[in-house]
Amino acid sequence: MKLLVTGGAGFIGSNFIRYWLKNHSEDSIVNLDALTYAGNLENLSAVEKNPHYSFIKGDITDPEKVDQAMNEVDWVVHFAAESHVDRSITGPAAFVKTNIIGTEVLLDVALKHNVKRFHHVSTDEVFGALELDSTDKFNETTPYDPRSPYSASKAGSDHLVRAYYHTYQLPITITNCSNNFGPYHHPEKIIPLAITNLLENKKVPIYGDGLHVRDWLYVEDHCRAIDRVLADGKIGETYCIGGLTHDINNLEVVKKIIALMGKDESLIEFVKDRPGHDRRYAIDWSKIKNELGWEPKYDFDTWLGKTIEWFKEHESWWRNVKSGEYREYYEKQYSNS
Ligand code: NAD
Ligand code: DAU
Repeated sequence: MKLLVTGGAGFIGSNFIRYWLKNHSEDSIVNLDALTYAGNLENLSAVEKNPHYSFIKGDITDPEKVDQAMNEVDWVVHFAAESHVDRSITGPAAFVKTNIIGTEVLLDVALKHNVKRFHHVSTDEVFGALELDSTDKFNETTPYDPRSPYSASKAGSDHLVRAYYHTYQLPITITNCSNNFGPYHHPEKIIPLAITNLLENKKVPIYGDGLHVRDWLYVEDHCRAIDRVLADGKIGETYCIGGLTHDINNLEVVKKIIALMGKDESLIEFVKDRPGHDRRYAIDWSKIKNELGWEPKYDFDTWLGKTIEWFKEHESWWRNVKSGEYREYYEKQYSNS
């Protein structure tokens, strides 16, 4: 089997490539990635010499590059995206370009090459926000209600993927997953931001009142879920993927990290809220459990601890990521707090 992975130099894509080559050593992977600020080939140093792995630097909005990358490919696993909500608020255009137009280019080329599967990696954010004091959860029938430029662009991409199934019978599957954490997570996101700031004895910025709730999943569980959907998922279907946390808010997450690292809660700093900040996400993952036998196996507290250890052991990785463009981004993002 030959897979084209888009966005394989990012956080989840690189974890997926390492996971796949370990668990499906007979398969080969082509990684197409534009190496934006979020793409980092260091994430793949463990596999760069593997003869079953190759890398093409290219943009998913470039039909010729995509055509070249999709040559003789059986399955496409599409991760490439602009992924950070805060950046989508200050610059939505890149999100429309990559997440919507890029997905459309990939779908067109996938049709031309008759790929056997186009798997689209999407997010729970397309469903909008749940009330804080409810027990509601998102599932596959929840109506779309995206509220940030990021989630709106991911919703657009989901609709296009389904349209190519209904209109042209492209064999697609979609997963909508909750918040991932783990190794190689970009420090613009809250968990690695908190860990690396604390390692530098810097304050941890919490937006608004800190009571916003996310559903956390260790990244390898996400990779395992995509594996199950590729193997046995029904063509045209969507599967929601979520973790084992129960309504843990951002303040509780950061306090856990502080306790695990032996730091002081005085390092918490409340800053101005994210505009349109979604209050609560929670995922009902019973469909993928009942139909495909997947459930998360990594609990939050243990794997948060292991993630902290990973960041301690990979100081040069995150220090490199936090230099240059990141420093400018950080100063702009948190300057008016
Ligand atoms: P990331 O920002 O860490 O990585 C994105 C990768 O895509 C980078 O390597 C980047 O260089 C590449 N890329 C960006 N624009 C590109 C373009 N135009 N052409 C080619 N490559 C391009 O993102 P992530 O957190 O790993 O997320 C991966 C996917 O999973 C995204 O589609 C995201 O919407 C989805 N997702 C993420 C989460 C999460 O918690 N991080 C949860 C659910 C779904
Ligand atoms: O739900 C899945 C989504 O999870 C993915 O689709 C996105 O690609 C991914 O970035 C993530 O989005 P979030 O906006 O939930 O993740 P982020 O880490 O940016 O923020 C998590 C929560 O922490 C959110 O409520 C905002 C808050 N936050 C974030 C930052 C960066 C803070 O309080 N302070 C911060 O400095």
